[in-house]
Amino acid sequence: MKQQIENLQKKAKEEILSSTTLEKLDEARVKYLGKKGELTLVLRKMGELSPEERPIIGSLVNKVRDELENLISNRLEELRKEELNNKLEKEKIDITLPGIKLKRGSKHPVNRIIEELEDLFVSMGYDVVSGPELETDEYCFERLNLPKGHPARDMQDSFYITTEYLLRTQTSAVQARVMMENEEKTPIRVICPGKTYRRDDDATHSHQFGQIEGLLIDKNISLADLKGTLEVFVKKMLGQNSKLRFRPSYFPFTEPSYEVDVSCFKCGGKGCNLCKQTGWIEILGSGMVHPNVLKMNGYDPEIYSGFAFGTGLDRLAMFKYGITDIRLLYTNDVRFLNQFDRKDEENEIKY
Ligand code: DAH
Repeated sequence: MKQQIENLQKKAKEEILSSTTLEKLDEARVKYLGKKGELTLVLRKMGELSPEERPIIGSLVNKVRDELENLISNRLEELRKEELNNKLEKEKIDITLPGIKLKRGSKHPVNRIIEELEDLFVSMGYDVVSGPELETDEYCFERLNLPKGHPARDMQDSFYITTEYLLRTQTSAVQARVMMENEEKTPIRVICPGKTYRRDDDATHSHQFGQIEGLLIDKNISLADLKGTLEVFVKKMLGQNSKLRFRPSYFPFTEPSYEVDVSCFKCGGKGCNLCKQTGWIEILGSGMVHPNVLKMNGYDPEIYSGFAFGTGLDRLAMFKYGITDIRLLYTNDVRFLNQFDRKDEENEIKY
């Protein structure tokens, strides 16, 4: 029996010392020292021994067991260290390598324009309001001094949904809404950026586009107020050196009405391909709120006066960022949008 134990001891030692993984080491532990392990089975057979042999063999088995347990825990320690070293080696981080660039989203150029205008007008005491895109004929036209059959309706090819409902052709519809909703008929100062729809669709027009509307109503408002406000607006958007030119025009909801041109920001007014050699670029429509519009929406034109203006956001974005094709604003091409992944100032085109 002694011989058998010594053989076992030798075999177990070899197996323990040669185990190269934690799994193998554990297999060896179970094989020799586990409940049904070979050394455990020897212990169970102690009963068959003579009383003289029992203590001798007993102490031998205990010695061997202690020795194997020690060997196992040492080997375990070694293997754990090895494993850790391997892991450290494999997962070594070279902190001098450049990091991985995280892709950030970028604001759409039209949204940038909207945010900039909102900041500007809020700083002048305006509220930002919105209205429905599915609008009624009443608010889109009638309450703006454009009765049914009025020839000026032809200027805006509309998407009618029913005879009464249409997709709004202009954010001017919100003017009437704000006036009607203000039951106390107190002064108004609002801007309204939003989507508008018309039935044209070519390289320079889209069936859906963005507009921003401005409306101010108070006592003693004059054309000088309109001019001053638009000057701040245009200079902020297109550069402090911009000059403005007011050209008489016609809009049913304003009287007098003006189209406003800005000195070409590319050539400074000398004439170039952007301004078609005129030195000027048309930028917005404006005027003093027509007395009929005030009256129809509950404001007494004898007491109140006001001004309004409206312009295309896409055009502004195109000018500001030097974009030549309007469709780029709507096709969601990330290569285009990623160019706006930097600070505003860097994007602004230096003419
Ligand atoms: N609504 C006009 C358009 O879409 C633009 C406009 C002109 C708005 C004059 C105004 C205004 O508020 O006073 O063509």
